Amino acid sequence: MNVLVLYQSRKGHTRAAAEAIAQAARQMDHAVTVKAVIEVRQEDVANADALFVGTWVHGLILFNVRPAGAELWVPALPPLEGKPAGVFCTYLFHPHNSLSKLAAMLEARGATVRGQHAIQRRNPGQGAEAFVQGVLQAGTP
Ligand SMILES: Cc1cc2nc3c(=O)[nH]c(=O)nc-3n(C[C@H](O)[C@H](O)[C@H](O)COP(=O)(O)O)c2cc1C
Repeated sequence: MNVLVLYQSRKGHTRAAAEAIAQAARQMDHAVTVKAVIEVRQEDVANADALFVGTWVHGLILFNVRPAGAELWVPALPPLEGKPAGVFCTYLFHPHNSLSKLAAMLEARGATVRGQHAIQRRNPGQGAEAFVQGVLQAGTP
């Protein structure tokens, strides 16, 4: 499979999580491209059999916790029609419902979200393998 991993990162934690997801997919013999959301082109998405899309969480710890910048960068993504996707986020305290918010935004652009993964920033690789496996295997007979 061709796998595209997209991330939005300010300080590098989400980029590290994206790299860990990419590494897990490569170990399963998939061809993987990793890009920042601002770098992605229509052909990157068109060529991908599956997407992973992630950002960090931004809020007031208990209130208004959301996927950072998603209201700006999700609408700017190429069309995601028919693409299976996994969503991820990194956080420091608690992600609250950032993942379901991001999933709904990607589904509104046409993606089919098959998995969600929240990652505490101190351990960007935690759970990457199971997350990738779940997303890539969901929907296969
Ligand atoms: C302005 C700002 C607001 C944040 N708000 C929250 C928050 O409400 N809850 C939380 O768990 N982490 C919060 N964080 C922590 C980030 O989500 C966390 O450090 C993340 O891993 C950063 O990712 P990055 O290194 O890719 O930019 C906030 C960070 C910043 C800079």
